[in-house]
This record gives sequence, structure tokens and C-alpha cells, in this order.
Amino acid sequence: MNQIMKFQSQLLNWYDLHGRKNLPWQVDDSYLVWISEIMLQQTQVLKVIDYFNAFISEFPNMKLLAQADINDVLALWSGLGYYNRARNIHKTAQICVQEHNAILPLDLKKLMALPGIGQTTAGAILSLASNLPFAILDGNVKRVMSRVYRVGEIKLSEYTNKLWQLAEQNISKQRPKNYNQALMDLGSLVCVRSKPRCHECPLNTLCQAYQVNETELYPPKKTKTKQIAVTLHALLVIKDEKILLRKRGETGIWAGLWFLPEFIGKKSSNLLHSIKHVLSHRILTINVYKNKELVDKIQDCHWVALSDLKKFAHPSALVKIINAVDLKY
Ligand code: ADE
Repeated sequence: MNQIMKFQSQLLNWYDLHGRKNLPWQVDDSYLVWISEIMLQQTQVLKVIDYFNAFISEFPNMKLLAQADINDVLALWSGLGYYNRARNIHKTAQICVQEHNAILPLDLKKLMALPGIGQTTAGAILSLASNLPFAILDGNVKRVMSRVYRVGEIKLSEYTNKLWQLAEQNISKQRPKNYNQALMDLGSLVCVRSKPRCHECPLNTLCQAYQVNETELYPPKKTKTKQIAVTLHALLVIKDEKILLRKRGETGIWAGLWFLPEFIGKKSSNLLHSIKHVLSHRILTINVYKNKELVDKIQDCHWVALSDLKKFAHPSALVKIINAVDLKY
């Protein structure tokens, strides 16, 4: 048996025993696989399950999603972060209805031409929903491949090209669906970033980094994206179980989402609370005030019943604030 066949069979044997098999999106339906894959970008499986189920019960198919109001789509995304992913899902659904008979095309290039679908998501849709031999290269797969083949310390574009080449070379033609799921599961359950469980790994006899005791050197460390510190000043006004909210503008942080009304400059005497909230590119300090007299100066505010908050797309920071000041959510 050659090295590639060993890689495939050891991985697939491990998957049959230990891999994930009962996730709600593990069905032969490209719509469900697509929604789950977008949610799973940057978000852990456990957190995604409830969001996925709620989303699919509201928008069970492409047509209903395409017809939906974007605000209702964003509302179901509240708390997942990266809200452009939800906007792209909505746009892609509309394109699929107009151009592809309301289904995702079964073609790598056509999939990649749709908003929010890159090569990994396209490969995942084709392999997981239709068992076609297309490779994927998400963060988990990159970590496994860079360790097994000791790929690192080269320019980023060469690094990614090399990993794609390995991912494509190794894909199982017989069981591409299980193979890709196995690689993702191995990366998230065994070949984890720090203290990988190499003694449990089905690939340890093939893993070049493990053989020379250098797993911690792979994958090479990314240079960190700079996070900019930003301070927001917001008003918390609650009356009769209703909260005053304002829809944010169409650009910038939390574009188009509902948040507390904000103002420029601070009135420190009425500071209720200050919270830190970390986003991918920003470290926010949110100072929350109770200056009711400022409310009249802020336009476009709406009273929203706290029990209706779910219907208004909002960032998780809003929930954090509401919880921090000890009100019922
Ligand atoms: N991350 C991205 N896609 C995934 C999947 N299908 N299963 C587990 N983790 C994932």
C-alpha cells in the first residue's frame, strides 16, 4: 500500500469509529450543507447546532430564503457574528432562484462565483452533499496537512498552494464525503492546535512533524491581524419592559444591526457600566450610560419589547450589556 492509500484508509477507519455522524446537516442536501458550512466558518460545531436548526425551520429551502426580508435573516444570525456571511447567504439564494432553478449548481467554478462561497465551501458542498471528490482546506485541514507533511516556513501563497496540492492529491475517490468529514473531525478533535493528542491519531505513523517531535512548530504561526481599540458611548434606556434601540448604519461595525443608541463624547457621571468586547479586528470598550435627557437628541430610535428582541438582529454585545446590568433578557 502506498503512502496516500495508507493515509486514506487509516483516516477512514478512524472516522468509522470516532468521526461525527449525527449532525443535523449530515444529509444529502446541498442547501443544508451550504448553510451549515457558512455557519461553521469561525464558529464551533456545538454553538452552530441551535442556530442551524432555528434557521432551517424558518427557511427550510432556497426559495423561502430568497424571498425573505434580510432583517429576518440577520435576526436568525444574531450572536453568530460576521454578519456579512448572512448577507451573502441571502444574495446567493436570490441568484440561485434566478439563475440555477433554486438549487446550488453542482459545479466547482459556478459555486465559487456565488457570494460567500470560496473553494473550501464549494468543495465541502460537493463532497458532503453529493459525495464528489473535491478537496477542502479549512483551518482544521490545514493544521493536519501542515503537520503530516511538515509544510511551513515559506511564503503564505506558496504555503497555501502546497497545502491545496496535498489536499487534492490525498482525497479519497471512493469515499470523499466521509474522507473530508474525517479530516475536519480529526483536526478539531485530535490534531488540535496546542497539545495535540498524537498517541490517539490514526496518522501518527505517517506524520512527519510527530516523527521528529515538532508538532508544535506546525502550522507556522500567523502574523496577528492588528486589532484597533475603539470606544463606544451608548445609552441604556428601559421602560415598561421595553428597551430603546437604534438600527446602525449600513457600513462599519455591526452594519444594519440593532444596538443601543450611541452618542459622541462622554458623560462620566452617569456611567452605568463599561464592558470590553472583542471582535476580529476591533477591541471595543462600550461605556453604557443612563442619561435619559440625551434620548431626545438621538433620532431614529425604536422601543422594542425585551421579549421581542429575537426579531431584531442584534450583536451579542447587546445581550452582554443587558445581562451585565441584571435585567431579564
Ligand atoms: N467545520 C467546517 N465544516 C465542518 C463540518 N462539516 N464538520 C465539522 N466541522 C466543520
